[in-house]
Amino acid sequence: MEVIIRKDAEAGCILGAKIIARLVHEKPTAVLGLATGRTPLRLYQELIRMHRDEGLDFSRVTTFNLDEYVGLPGTHDQSYRYFMRENFFRHINIDQSRTHVPNGTATDLHEECRAYEHRIALAGGIDLQLLGLGRNGHIGFNEPSGSLRSRTWIKILSEQTLRDNSDVFGNRESMPRHAMTMGIGTILDARRCLLLAFGPPKTRAVQAMIEGPLAAICPASALQLHPRATVIVDEASASALEYADHYRWIDANKLPWQRYD
Ligand code: GLP
Repeated sequence: MEVIIRKDAEAGCILGAKIIARLVHEKPTAVLGLATGRTPLRLYQELIRMHRDEGLDFSRVTTFNLDEYVGLPGTHDQSYRYFMRENFFRHINIDQSRTHVPNGTATDLHEECRAYEHRIALAGGIDLQLLGLGRNGHIGFNEPSGSLRSRTWIKILSEQTLRDNSDVFGNRESMPRHAMTMGIGTILDARRCLLLAFGPPKTRAVQAMIEGPLAAICPASALQLHPRATVIVDEASASALEYADHYRWIDANKLPWQRYD
C-alpha cells in the first residue's frame, strides 16, 4: 500500500485529481470507478477545472460508481446518480451513456447486481477505482464483517453509517437501510485503487486500514492485498499511524517517475 500524507484535504484532493488526470491523458478511453460522499467533492471540482482550463477530455471515458441506495430513483436529490450528475458529470464533456451507477430501483435487484458486474467486465474492467472511507472502515457500502471477496450485491447499512449519512436526509427514518454496492472482490479487481480519507472522524479507520490486521471487521484493510493501492490522507486522519515517519520517508525518497506532483 502506498501511503501519502498531505497537509490537509485540499492538498490531498488536488493530488488525487492529478493522478486521475494523468491516467485520462495516458489512456483517453480509461474506465474510472467513482465514489460519492463529502470526501471526493473537492477532487471532482479540480477535475472540472482541469477540463475547463486545460482541456482535460472525458469524451471517451467510461465510469462505474461504487454504490447506490436501494429504493431511490436517480431523480431523488439524495441518490448517488443525482450526486454524480450535479457534482461532476454535467460539468464535463462525458458521454452520459458511458456513466454507470447501480440502479437501486430495479425490479429484480439481484439481477441488476449481476448485470452491473457484467457491464464492468464488458468495459474491460476498471482502470482506477476511487474510494472514500467510512468512519467504521467501510468502502463502498461494504460494512464491517462482510466477506472480503464479495461481489456487487445488496447490503444492509450499519447503524453507524445510518447515523453518519442521515443528516442529509433530514432524519434517520427517511434514509434507506439497504444499498447496492460493488463488493470488496469487485473493488480489488480494479487495476488500481485510490482511497482518500481526511479529518479526525477517519483517524481510527485509517489506522486500522493501513496498520491493522487484514480483517473483515475493517473492510478497507482488504486494500493491503491489492497490488497497486494508493491511500491519500491528511495530517489529522494520519495522527494515529504508528509508522507515519516511515510513510513520509518513502514518499520523500521516491524516484522522479514514482512521483505525482
Ligand atoms: C458513504 C459511501 C462511501 C463513502 C463514505 C464516506 O457511506 N457509500 O462510498 O466513502 O460514505 O463518506 P464521506 O466522504 O462523506 O465521509
